[in-house]
Amino acid sequence: MTDLSTTYLGLQLKNPILASASPLSKKVDTVRRLEDAGVSAVVMYSLFEEQIVHESKALDHFLNQGTESFAEAITYLPDLEHYNVGPDEYLNLIRRHKEAVQIPIIGSLNGNTTGGWVDYAKKIEEAGADALELNIYDVPTDLKMTSQDMEQTYIDLVSDVRKQIHIPLAVKISPFITSLPGFAAKLVKAGATGLVLFNRFIQPDLDIETLEVVPTLHLSTSEEIRLPLRWVAILHGRIQADLALTSGVHTANDVLRSVMAGANVTMLASELIAKGPGRATEILTDMEKWMGEFEYDSIRQMCGSMSQKSVADPDAFERGNYMKALTSFDNKLRY
Ligand SMILES: Cc1cc2nc3c(=O)[nH]c(=O)nc-3n(C[C@H](O)[C@H](O)[C@H](O)COP(=O)(O)O)c2cc1C
Repeated sequence: MTDLSTTYLGLQLKNPILASASPLSKKVDTVRRLEDAGVSAVVMYSLFEEQIVHESKALDHFLNQGTESFAEAITYLPDLEHYNVGPDEYLNLIRRHKEAVQIPIIGSLNGNTTGGWVDYAKKIEEAGADALELNIYDVPTDLKMTSQDMEQTYIDLVSDVRKQIHIPLAVKISPFITSLPGFAAKLVKAGATGLVLFNRFIQPDLDIETLEVVPTLHLSTSEEIRLPLRWVAILHGRIQADLALTSGVHTANDVLRSVMAGANVTMLASELIAKGPGRATEILTDMEKWMGEFEYDSIRQMCGSMSQKSVADPDAFERGNYMKALTSFDNKLRY
């Protein structure tokens, strides 16, 4: 019997396929279907710092300045109003998911500054979440901001959130960090139990006729896995935190490569959104089949077997491979 079980953030999971933060966690029925399909845990869609701050400002406005200007206040953040329900409903949904399924439910907070809003970490814990994922999604545009200042803000945020909760804390980060391993080690020191690599940035597009910036979200492809794959391989076994790989996981081969690179788990959004919760069952079946053919007994046995520490040519993850890759095209040129 192939053993697909793994651990992540101290949680015993039946396999390394998690539903990543996405609208798939918005309905109890969908979360039930994810569980039935074999998904081992669900990360909730994010509750945003802006939503929490906005709600407390709106309440303040309402209590102190009357209702006239309230309507104006709630036109702020129209996108979030479409994407998400408010903070209270979010907490209620965690409770409802917990009642409906046996698999762990991981709450998700999304923000980039410290402040009173981090209280919600505690509320998410009290609502019954098994762990919390903190998504630090940020696009720095200030010319005076140094990378050190920016990273310090994130580290302060992680330590503030850590102080609020007792449940495990994973931090979902961007790949656009100057020296990722050093930053990862600092996050762990600040209290991260796990790292989620990586945030997939929504790249806005430009409409040249309407002169508008168009927010564009395409679902990922398996091609995108190579960015997190490299960094998981580099970090595996070198920091005291579990690793989750997200971005570009679509097939059994993608999950197995992630595990071999050193991920404790993978998190899927695009594939499950495009094909439905049942797709998880197919991927799990394909994984078992492949592992049987190649005589692997367990996921734990495979974890990190192709990390930088374990491969015969560790340079392949670094600069060494760069020249080799560039010159590999020389003989293929037709011009
Ligand atoms: C429609 C959609 C909504 C998402 N919402 C969130 C979110 O609320 N919080 C978050 O941390 N990530 C969110 N993500 C990112 C996913 O959790 C995931 O990390 C990313 O899409 C990469 O995985 P994939 O290649 O499997 O799509 C969202 C992704 C999609 C496609």
